[in-house]
Amino acid sequence: MNKEVTPYAGTETKKEQVATMFNNISGTYDFLNHFLSLGIDIIWRRKAIRELLAIQPRIILDVATGTGDFAFESIDILHPDKVIGVDISEGMLEVAKKKIKDRNLGHVFSVQLGDSEGLHFEDNTFDAITVAFGVRNYENLEKGLADMLRVLKPEGKIVILEFSKPRHFPVKQGYNVYFKYVTPFFGKLFSKDKRAYTYLPESVAAFPDGEDFVGLMEKIGYKNTKHRPLTFGISAIYTGIK
Ligand SMILES: C[S@@+](CC[C@H](N)C(=O)[O-])C[C@H]1O[C@@H](n2cnc3c(N)ncnc32)[C@H](O)[C@@H]1O
Repeated sequence: MNKEVTPYAGTETKKEQVATMFNNISGTYDFLNHFLSLGIDIIWRRKAIRELLAIQPRIILDVATGTGDFAFESIDILHPDKVIGVDISEGMLEVAKKKIKDRNLGHVFSVQLGDSEGLHFEDNTFDAITVAFGVRNYENLEKGLADMLRVLKPEGKIVILEFSKPRHFPVKQGYNVYFKYVTPFFGKLFSKDKRAYTYLPESVAAFPDGEDFVGLMEKIGYKNTKHRPLTFGISAIYTGIK
């Protein structure tokens, strides 16, 4: 489904290319995230994590954890017993490990290499699963969604935060210009991978957002699915229950 857009032109799988790309940009990822989004990504993460307040999850899996920012928000807001972060990029996990150490959060948050399309956890393990800006990068989106459902406990909740495409004037036009010109310009200037920030808008364009994504979640077996657009539809929160 979202297989056709890959970071590079090589013969490696999308997954290998995505891992390489995030390894390349791990050192500048946090800075560019906040800089390019003018800090709005922080507000989006907080809003998304608050979706879990009502269920007070004790054990949380943060998939595509990257440098750990979504997990840090859930620790701050939900005070769980344990958060495990998994990611396919060792470079991103190295940055997460340093942040965990600096913040003295090793007792609650640990990270490990792991692929959403084949998670190394028993069925029905987690009270909640969180994924921020990860699902767009999956090689096989349906497989990734299905394996997350498998490791979620019955009645457990998933919260997915992802970019989406604004539909209306003038945000749609402004967003297109920003993503097509501004993001690649600064991405090229500051990161070590000039392709990463042209892949970003391409992957967003190819992603089945909004009702299409909700439909996919339902097809996989998530119940009570909801879709909440943020900031004029620039991104969206998706939730579902097992
Ligand atoms: C844009 S970053 C998001 C990181 C973090 N969640 C955040 O909010 O900043 C996307 C991450 O997804 C990871 N990723 C992509 N495909 C994955 C998969 N199949 N399983 C686990 N992680 C994956 C990448 O390695 C990358 O670190």
